[in-house]
Amino acid sequence: LAALEGKRKLVFIGFMAAGKTRAAASVAAALGEEWADSDAEFERVHGSIHGAFAAERGEAAFREAEHEVVLELLERGPGVLALGGGAVETPEVRRALAGHVVVWCQVGLDEAGRRVAGDPPENRPLATDPEAFRERFERRRPLYTELATAVLPEGDPELAGRAASSLAALRGLPGTRMAWAHSASGEYPAYVGRGLLATGFWPLDGRRFLVTDSEVARLHGDTIGSLAGRVEVAAGEESKTMAEAERVMRELAAMGMSRDDHLVAFGGGVVGDLAGFCAATFQRGVAVVQAPTTLVAQVDSAYGGKTGVDLPEAKNYVGAYHLPAAVLADPALLATLPPAELAAGFAEVVKTALIAGGALWERVRALDELDPSALDEVIFACVRAKLEIVAADERDSGIRQVLNLGHTVGHAIEAAGAYGRHRHGEAVGLGLLAALRLSDAGELRDEVERLLAGAGLPVALGPEIATDEVLAAVERDKKRGADGVGFVLLERPGEPLPGQPVDPSRVRAAVEELRRPR
Ligand SMILES: NC(=O)c1ccc[n+]([C@@H]2O[C@H](COP(=O)([O-])OP(=O)(O)OC[C@H]3O[C@@H](n4cnc5c(N)ncnc54)[C@H](O)[C@@H]3O)[C@@H](O)[C@H]2O)c1
Repeated sequence: LAALEGKRKLVFIGFMAAGKTRAAASVAAALGEEWADSDAEFERVHGSIHGAFAAERGEAAFREAEHEVVLELLERGPGVLALGGGAVETPEVRRALAGHVVVWCQVGLDEAGRRVAGDPPENRPLATDPEAFRERFERRRPLYTELATAVLPEGDPELAGRAASSLAALRGLPGTRMAWAHSASGEYPAYVGRGLLATGFWPLDGRRFLVTDSEVARLHGDTIGSLAGRVEVAAGEESKTMAEAERVMRELAAMGMSRDDHLVAFGGGVVGDLAGFCAATFQRGVAVVQAPTTLVAQVDSAYGGKTGVDLPEAKNYVGAYHLPAAVLADPALLATLPPAELAAGFAEVVKTALIAGGALWERVRALDELDPSALDEVIFACVRAKLEIVAADERDSGIRQVLNLGHTVGHAIEAAGAYGRHRHGEAVGLGLLAALRLSDAGELRDEVERLLAGAGLPVALGPEIATDEVLAAVERDKKRGADGVGFVLLERPGEPLPGQPVDPSRVRAAVEELRRPR
């Protein structure tokens, strides 16, 4: 295996003008390695710039010549490579990439257009017609998505260099993928890999102090080794309190934790929120590595930096934004998750897939059973989707609100049931059905109802939850938003609309409908 690992290359792919060459150069420099660029190599071999070759002899002839150059580089080239944007359109190249660490440098269509506009036309013959440019972008996007072991978002030119050691770590972690989270207040690697925690890989230096709950400790207590200390809380939402936060921090203080050490949040969303909150405030802030163990936490709560605890007055009423230093999500841990907890996470998966649309929605709607050993791809796709949204808006002021799809009515159902009747994910599932009704998306609502029911989630409200209480909770929730935030609506997967006003009588009808499952 060691010999094989030595051969795994970091191969940068992505659309025209995504910055692949620059990324490969800075990663190679940071790692002290050699690198090569397939376009430059093409020019050396064929004595013609790749753009001119394509313009003269046609794209098919260019791809044929290009793929030989790429295969040769993959076979005998240096450890860091940048490929031409269209190289992945050749099936042989895609096959040859298997086993390497493929790094997708993302760029938006508009930004790519702006960047190529500055290049001389003979260098970018494939970018002269805007419609063909867009079509090419759409055609390649699913190929990059499918191939990527690692995803680097569009960002400043130094971003790839800062991610270099996290990318290099993937060489020794076959089966693990990484998405680089990048937003205004910071950045971190989010790794998703089956068996990742058992490899012993750790992304941070310094002493580790573990926070976990009694259930995760019982089932997976020894998974994370080399600990300087550990604190256990009781399993369940009851532990997300100021009192428990104080107890955890006092234990950390007693164990001598200092600012150079870091916390590890090893558990579901409760442990993630509680330990994240302790990390945000203990000694005015220490690093936290999130190691999520539930589906809810692996697709949602471990990312984005929202941390906090509940007050008797309301859930999540005290908290702080505190980005993790890294997230390590290992889907193997989900094997022990009780079916009802897995299903609750599935509601968040459906929510994310509805917001993202495209390939993720197609994958999720095709799942015919909820098998935790078959969710790795879906988990990574949800992580990417969530990180893209959080990158655009970290503090919930605009686009991040789309992540609240189904949550307005969902939260209200939780509150009306005094948080005892439905799990958060179950309430979100019911909230999704209401949101789709309010969006006049009847067919989609029916399909989501079938998906949720198939996963064992409730699709009807129990008689003990009064419609008036749900509606009152919706109103309270709206008042909490300074600008009277409306609903997130969604007519079609991939097209969420935040901040939409809805007539209260229609909300009543959508909630009442949840009592009449067909
Ligand atoms: N910060 C955010 O952005 C965010 C987002 C969504 C939800 N949340 C919060 O997350 C919490 C819900 O998280 P959750 O659904 O993960 O609940 P949870 O943390 O309570 O975990 C659910 C149950 O599963 C058990 N468990 C955890 N991992 C297990 C495993 N691998 N095998 C067997 N049992 C396991 C736990 O002990 C617990 O009993 C709520 O408090 C919610 O407010 C936060």
